Amino acid sequence: MASTPAGSANQPKLAPSPFSLPADLSKLPDVPGTDPTRCVLDAFRIAIAKVLADALPALTVEKAYEGVDYGKKGEDFTVALPRFRLPGKVDELAKKVLEKFQPDEWIETVVHSKAFLHFQCRTTTLNCLVLDQIHALTYDTESKKPEYGANSLGEGKRVLIEYSSPNIAKSFHVGHLRGTIIGAFLSNLYRACGWEVITLNYLGDWGTQFGLIASGFEKYGSQEKLEENAIQHLLEIYVKVSADAEKDPSVREEAAAWFKRMEDGDDEALKNWRVWRELSIRKYEEEYARLNVHFDVYTGESMVGAKTMEDAVKKLQEMGMIEEDNGALRVNLEAYKLGKAVIRKRDGTSIYLTRDIGAAIERYEEYKFDKMIYVIASQQDLHLQQFFKILQLMGHQWAHNLEHVNYGLVLGMSTRKGTVVFLDQIIREAASMMHEQMRKNEEKYKAIEDPEYTSLEVGITGVKIQDMAAKRINNYTFNWDRMLSFEGDTGPYLQYAHVRLASMERKNPDLVPLPAPSQLRTDLLVEGQARDIVFLLGSWPDVVKNALKTHEPSNVVTFAFRLSHAISSAWETVIVKGEMDKDKARARLALYVAARDVLGAALRLLSITPLERM
Ligand code: ARG
Repeated sequence: MASTPAGSANQPKLAPSPFSLPADLSKLPDVPGTDPTRCVLDAFRIAIAKVLADALPALTVEKAYEGVDYGKKGEDFTVALPRFRLPGKVDELAKKVLEKFQPDEWIETVVHSKAFLHFQCRTTTLNCLVLDQIHALTYDTESKKPEYGANSLGEGKRVLIEYSSPNIAKSFHVGHLRGTIIGAFLSNLYRACGWEVITLNYLGDWGTQFGLIASGFEKYGSQEKLEENAIQHLLEIYVKVSADAEKDPSVREEAAAWFKRMEDGDDEALKNWRVWRELSIRKYEEEYARLNVHFDVYTGESMVGAKTMEDAVKKLQEMGMIEEDNGALRVNLEAYKLGKAVIRKRDGTSIYLTRDIGAAIERYEEYKFDKMIYVIASQQDLHLQQFFKILQLMGHQWAHNLEHVNYGLVLGMSTRKGTVVFLDQIIREAASMMHEQMRKNEEKYKAIEDPEYTSLEVGITGVKIQDMAAKRINNYTFNWDRMLSFEGDTGPYLQYAHVRLASMERKNPDLVPLPAPSQLRTDLLVEGQARDIVFLLGSWPDVVKNALKTHEPSNVVTFAFRLSHAISSAWETVIVKGEMDKDKARARLALYVAARDVLGAALRLLSITPLERM
């Protein structure tokens, strides 16, 4: 693991927010953990907390703040009074709040209903501040990055995120694809939240399959094919030699002998393997790039130091944690309901588990991470619990900062030609099916500037959105037709929504360039549809924060759909073109521009490139 993380040095640092609340609106108390300069809704929640604390002396602003939740449809924020466990009847408490309440620039109304108080934000303040903040955080910063929704929760902290991790010379299955998509999202998310992120791809680049390939390479291998597509060619050879080995046991013996030479560090035996590994990585990098996925470090099972693993086994032995079983060594984890985990085979070779233990130790030594995340399918839940536990029992404090982000199965994924074995098959299939789909509408198709690029991007968006739409732990069934449709909650629908928003400035040249929202008549945004959009836009920083807690990409996908739906309900009533009042038209255009920026930010967080035209 000698390589240095490429991207980490130039990660965007979170500049101080260029946005500041208008002076007369900034008399709100400080509440730890909030940041009204990046999340306007924090300011409204603080204002509500202050209303409560002013009326109920037993309640501090901080405590009150914790009780301010989003309201149900039609209400901005709701407070459930019983949660504060204050002395006195709920009705009396509510009465005190209502009596004391004075409408101000933050809060328009308070309504009491049963155990709840419902608060309505002052629309003019909301409009102005939300749009201004998005504008400031999207445009006025030099690099345009990090964008609105970003926060500094992880400032000064470093996270390692390991994901994708396919096996060289074996097939890239859908589980790997899902891990790749979720891992890319998490990397973007942690970066957006101020963490220093280092991404690792831990290749399955070691094992007896390389002995087989070595012994079959002379017969089936071609240097040319290898250079053209190493991933594909190595798998081909592997399949052929494996078939030979079925018939002729000596093939397997030869392979085992070869792999033994590799394990012993025989340079001659390692020479080819190194080339195969290098060429496979190069091919992978190309394919990942098409998915907007990049790794700082390509490491792998082969890179784990033998000494680290030996030392770990020795330490476990000294601690009396190892028992012998027929020559093999295992750790008894039954006290933790984690069974017995073999860490060394009878023939002395290391295994998957030992390598993971060694790899984690070496990664901590090298990176001193504050947290390390493994994005791996839930089929490996037990494996991860076992090796986390072993590391903890060995006394490594940092082992308490290891996290497994797991996910369910993808069912029924195949292309028209059959089962999927390569990543590029999935990418090509998504692009070509999307291309066909777009061709069906002759007129629209003609208007597309670059159909190749567009169908690839929209197709990939379809795959990604389908994958991230439901909770990670759920299995889902892969369905090309459903994911590539423009109707329903699909990736193409989101891209379409973004494209439509992106066209607004182009279609209204007389209104641009727009002044900053604080110079606009945002008070003219009075329609319910406009307000819904503004409030949703205001909630984006909360969505990001929450996703960081849950590690659920579905939180972001759900938001993107809600926003897109709110926008499509507004098109007819909140018009720009044809609106005679230019001030109103400008304010509305600013609203759509802000919506475009936030939808774009959501898509980028999901590793999707938002399209400008389609
Ligand atoms: N290569 C493994 C597989 O395909 C996944 C590796 C997961 N990472 C780990 N540290 N065990 O199943």
